[in-house]
Amino acid sequence: MGLQKIDIPKALLSEIEIAYLWEYPIEGIEEKEKSWHIFFRPENAEIIQSFFKNKSIPNVVTETLTEQNWNATWEENYPPVLVNNVAHILAPFHKKSTQILPQIIINPSMAFGTGHHETTSGLLELMNGLDFQNRTLLDMGCGSGVLGIFSEIKGAKEVLLVDNDQNCVENTNQNIRLNKCHNSKVILGTIENIKDQKFDFIVSNITKNVNLQFLADFDIMLKENGVLIISGFLIEDKQEILNKSKKYDFSLQNEFEKNNWCGLQFGR
Ligand SMILES: C[S@@+](CC[C@H](N)C(=O)[O-])C[C@H]1O[C@@H](n2cnc3c(N)ncnc32)[C@H](O)[C@@H]1O
Repeated sequence: MGLQKIDIPKALLSEIEIAYLWEYPIEGIEEKEKSWHIFFRPENAEIIQSFFKNKSIPNVVTETLTEQNWNATWEENYPPVLVNNVAHILAPFHKKSTQILPQIIINPSMAFGTGHHETTSGLLELMNGLDFQNRTLLDMGCGSGVLGIFSEIKGAKEVLLVDNDQNCVENTNQNIRLNKCHNSKVILGTIENIKDQKFDFIVSNITKNVNLQFLADFDIMLKENGVLIISGFLIEDKQEILNKSKKYDFSLQNEFEKNNWCGLQFGR
């Protein structure tokens, strides 16, 4: 069966509730003028429906999409993303941009990391202020691979991209090829598989709890003078992350806040 879709009028769901919805097993959210389109796999229908039931949102109708109209929907509603003064993120079917900015080609798929989400663009903005020339980077929870690919475009000499979802690994491999990244390698796995390696940079756009859980390992895996950038959590969760970071050799260097989402950059 194809993906499923629910349309919810914007008046019934605030930005903050949409931020919470991203914690659920969804495949994508499209913002329309008057409504949100929420896409998810059929096996996750019950848990997604329970989200709306808990919010007492009435008459939630689920539509099943065929593979064909899913693809058509994407192309029709899929604008290129311009991350302010940082990069232009294009799908293979978009015309090349005339902007003098790095162009990242991302084949739209189920993998997160098209650049449309605040956490991805916020991280790219933080990364833009850093020097990747001849340095190594770990993209933890790489999704589409967008962050790792950007670091190679900006000069990184060795990039390891890791995700525990096979769809993301396949999509990242495609995107690495599309961007002609020869210094990037992707593996299916999680922190356990790479704990013995060290990096100049670690970027991790996962959830609050996963980042909290990974901090101790990141502390060991980050080289001297290295930089750790994490996101995937809400502004209200920032303090919890900052409190835990004090246990390790991290000092806050920079941060972003966008529509309730936030990201933190630590140095040492
Ligand atoms: C929010 S997406 C970020 C994608 C991309 N890095 C970006 O910034 O747009 C989080 C990714 O982390 C992956 N992920 C979640 N938990 C993970 C874990 N424990 N180990 C490895 N990857 C994980 C998910 O499969 C997903 O692709």
